[in-house]
Amino acid sequence: MQYTWDEIEQHVAACTRCPLSRTRHLPVMGRGDHQADIMLIAEAPGGQEDEQGVPFVGKSGELLDRLLQDCGLYRKELYITNILKCHPPGNRDPQAEEKEACFPWLKYETFLLKPKIIVCLGRVAAQRIISADFKITRQHGTWTYRKNCALTATYHPSAILRDPSKYEEVKQDFEEIVRKRAKLD
Ligand code: URA
Repeated sequence: MQYTWDEIEQHVAACTRCPLSRTRHLPVMGRGDHQADIMLIAEAPGGQEDEQGVPFVGKSGELLDRLLQDCGLYRKELYITNILKCHPPGNRDPQAEEKEACFPWLKYETFLLKPKIIVCLGRVAAQRIISADFKITRQHGTWTYRKNCALTATYHPSAILRDPSKYEEVKQDFEEIVRKRAKLD
């Protein structure tokens, strides 16, 4: 069974698969180009995303836009989504049951998009998507290959907000992503 983009969005909007559906304000479906080569996967919507129903509209989003622009990338040419579609109260880490309950939506998004490159933003996404023991500090910028997709991870933009010295490292990871995309064309 595979849904269309509209159907996925409708299911996400009506989802009650985990208790976050009772505390969320708005669910946050992925956004961007449905023909994108590059899919960014982060952890979970923050407070502002919960208010607006759109991923990365808060401070992390501003930083992400600046970073992308510095590497010659634009948000509208990518597809950006989260492991969880609902905001965990207090921005706590997603719980295992929440990640599993929400995972089908991400699978449907990925199946429709068929990205050439998946970029996990932060430890939570990298450990769910690439490998359970992924160490973001040591392994960011490394590549794993699955079927027709190259997977990598870098720090989450909120890690740069906490420690601006990480900006350059993340920029280098994104520059490599741009080079990888050119090679895969
Ligand atoms: N942080 C995330 O992980 N995702 C968002 O959409 C916003 C902030």
